[in-house]
Amino acid sequence: MSGLQPPLDHYRSRVESALETLLPNSEPHTLHLAMRYATLDGGKRVRATLTYLTGSLFEQSEPSLDAAAAAIEMVHAYSLIHDDLPAMDDDDLRRGKPTTHIKFDEATAILAGDALQTLAFEILAANSEIEQRARLNQITELAQASGSVGMVGGQMIDIEATGQQQSLKQLQQMHAMKTGALIRAAVRLGYLASGNATRQQQQALDLYAESIGLAFQIRDDILDIESDTETLGKPQGSDLAANKSTYPALLGLDGAKAMAATLHQQALEALDIFDEKADPLRNLSSYIIDRIQ
Ligand code: IPE
Ligand code: IPE
Ligand code: MG
Ligand code: MG
Ligand code: MG
Repeated sequence: MSGLQPPLDHYRSRVESALETLLPNSEPHTLHLAMRYATLDGGKRVRATLTYLTGSLFEQSEPSLDAAAAAIEMVHAYSLIHDDLPAMDDDDLRRGKPTTHIKFDEATAILAGDALQTLAFEILAANSEIEQRARLNQITELAQASGSVGMVGGQMIDIEATGQQQSLKQLQQMHAMKTGALIRAAVRLGYLASGNATRQQQQALDLYAESIGLAFQIRDDILDIESDTETLGKPQGSDLAANKSTYPALLGLDGAKAMAATLHQQALEALDIFDEKADPLRNLSSYIIDRIQ
């Protein structure tokens, strides 16, 4: 998956080495192998990139952001392991490889997800590169974004909504929680590392993150229809087969694309208060609505 885009390529290899170092290799071997299998060598690393780019807007060094970038990717990897389980989306391919429960077994996949989640918080707590107060803020943010009012809550709504007709408002709420919360956390972990972002800057970055977070899941739903399994590295048509509630299902493909374009504009406007230092964030928003995988 090389040649994605310059910032993604750079940060992708940076977070890959951080993850390689931070993931255990010790006993119990099978569990650690499963954690490494699900986390390493795959994924676009959009969330890690957002953390690095946002942190660098506030002069944070890359080494001081490695912990947060790795932590958000660990929580994301855990969410994907559990999302693919038979009790959830029941998918057998992820990042071009068999899903963790297929490669190992269901019990190992559940436990690998559990352990990745707790490891993420341990890593944030241990990051002596930043102030204690900043660490606490990051831990609180990631906990809220991952839990019942964030990603996990959104996944619950997703399951309950399967086969049901949702209103646009309900769909937006579901996407904001299941995907948007972690994407917003990725941005917030970046500015919280520094402690120097003004309230106005935080609000602007939050609005940017909420816009791209929603656009990200809309694009994911579009690709489920328009792409193919090989390019995606996960089963195309999975949403349709499972009768999932998605933007294209409610608005049609063109309606969903128009919505993603509007959100991209909203993301750009939110960044108006920043100079060209925020250009990589602007480019990332374009990438999110145009991406093919
Ligand atoms: C897939 O996320 C799950 C969603 C939230 C849509 P990504 O598309 O970021 O997956 P990877 O990390 O690149 O595999
Ligand atoms: C996944 O949404 C959101 C989370 C994993 C939290 P999807 O179920 O659409 O993600 P994919 O398409 O399987 O990657
Ligand atoms: Mg799902
Ligand atoms: Mg899924
Ligand atoms: Mg999907």
